[in-house]
Amino acid sequence: MTATTASHAADLVAALLFVLSLAGLSQHRTSRAGVAYGIAGMALALVATVVVAAQDVSAGVVALIVLAMALGGAAGLWRARRVEMTQMPELIAVLHSFVGLAAVLVGWNGYLEVESHGAAQTRVAGELLGIHHAEVFIGVFIGAVTFTGSVVAYLKLSARIASRPLVLPGKNALNVTALAAFAVLTAWFTAAPGLGLMIAVTVLALALGWHLVASIGGGDMPVVVSMLNSYSGWAAAAAGFLLDNDLLIVTGALVGSSGAYLSYIMCRAMNRSFLSVIAGGFGIEAPSGAAQEQGEHREVRAEEVAALLAAARSVVITPGYGMAVAQAQHPVAELTRRLRERGIEVRFGVHPVAGRLPGHMNVLLAEAKVPYDIVLEMDEINDDLAATSVVLVIGANDTVNPAAMDDPASPIAGMPVLRVWEAEQVVVFKRSMASGYAGVQNPLFFRENTGMLFGDAKQSVEAILQALPEGHGGPASAVRQTTPAAG
Ligand code: TAP
Repeated sequence: MTATTASHAADLVAALLFVLSLAGLSQHRTSRAGVAYGIAGMALALVATVVVAAQDVSAGVVALIVLAMALGGAAGLWRARRVEMTQMPELIAVLHSFVGLAAVLVGWNGYLEVESHGAAQTRVAGELLGIHHAEVFIGVFIGAVTFTGSVVAYLKLSARIASRPLVLPGKNALNVTALAAFAVLTAWFTAAPGLGLMIAVTVLALALGWHLVASIGGGDMPVVVSMLNSYSGWAAAAAGFLLDNDLLIVTGALVGSSGAYLSYIMCRAMNRSFLSVIAGGFGIEAPSGAAQEQGEHREVRAEEVAALLAAARSVVITPGYGMAVAQAQHPVAELTRRLRERGIEVRFGVHPVAGRLPGHMNVLLAEAKVPYDIVLEMDEINDDLAATSVVLVIGANDTVNPAAMDDPASPIAGMPVLRVWEAEQVVVFKRSMASGYAGVQNPLFFRENTGMLFGDAKQSVEAILQALPEGHGGPASAVRQTTPAAG
């Protein structure tokens, strides 16, 4: 068997491993195996690529490739070990930007290679040349949009720039004009390639990527992250065509299509139009930023919440980003265990975009060994909330905001939310009256049946655990009136 045949076989096996990986990652129980398949597939793909490259280049170049891979691998390992769970979306955004940048560089390389050597001396000749030119142009375009879009997503997710949407006059017209200009430039470049056109498409795509993501508001960032995931896949597939690398095409298509499907699911979860998202056309309305006066909130103490819980028939816990920040999942799991021991029904209601990445809450709860069967999705629990004695909102905000249903002018209007306010009592765990990620005030905090338990969520849950009476406590209705705390 020649090295090339072996490499084709390796490509096929790696592609199958990637498919198995995606299948494994779709369920909790098989997710570890899914990760293992992915690692095996990627390791195989890298070895096969280097082996094939080694046939055409000198030993020195192979050494450079191995050195680059070792440096990249070490940097990736170092970063992945240090990253906090709450910073995961930022890391993903950075990684997407690398894929985009790589696609731009591959595209430019493809153009310069043909230009400097002439088509005849490269593997591209004759009628294929037009296709090659289109591949170069499309690859650079998708890569550059992905690159700047991911950089802006990173800056927004890491709070280095404000998450509020940029609203330029004629925002949608700008995007449509950029797409039309791209179509014209592609036709032109395919007929008469030139350096000026390459520069033009690169600048155009960099600006479009920046604008697409900058004009999307904080509450819609989950869709943006999955959309960029999809774009990065298509950018990799475009690079695969240029490099004549079948595995890169297959892998890019897998990432691109699964990312697109994830975006579709996210859009459904957030009641957004899929088409308007991929065109960067939503989140147009800028939040007013003016905090509306909502009235007074009630503050409760941990002891009161403990007594309330002890007297409850059923409890639903709706976790959010704050639970991840506080790392409160372990005491929350302990509280769940203690309440269930007392015969109280405890379930979790997980919003599809709670936290900062898809499945964020599920991962934390699984880590704390909360039984899977009591962790329900928003749609599964929403209708039961009205018959629930107590809802504990632990570090969630936007995902339990009634304004999404009641206020058509709200930036999160239309987004389905957990209807926690329908329960008999609601306790919100947070440190202040500050708004959530979307920057929107939450009327839930001012409802009559809501008590605010201020402080770090982990410490608050631990304080409740300490105060939880041994037997069945009486109903704890005592809450004291306070004036609103500073947000
Ligand atoms: P958020 O609306 O982000 O609110 C989190 C709340 O946690 C804040 O109000 C904060 O209030 C509180 N908090 C922070 N640290 C805390 C701590 N140590 N102890 C107690 N509370 C703490 O949360 P959510 O309901 O999970 O909503 C998620 C938001 O992120 C949505 O807008 C969603 O669109 C967006 N987003 C989601 C994703 C994905 S894929 N899930 C990706 C990007 C963006 P204090 O500061 O007052 O404590």
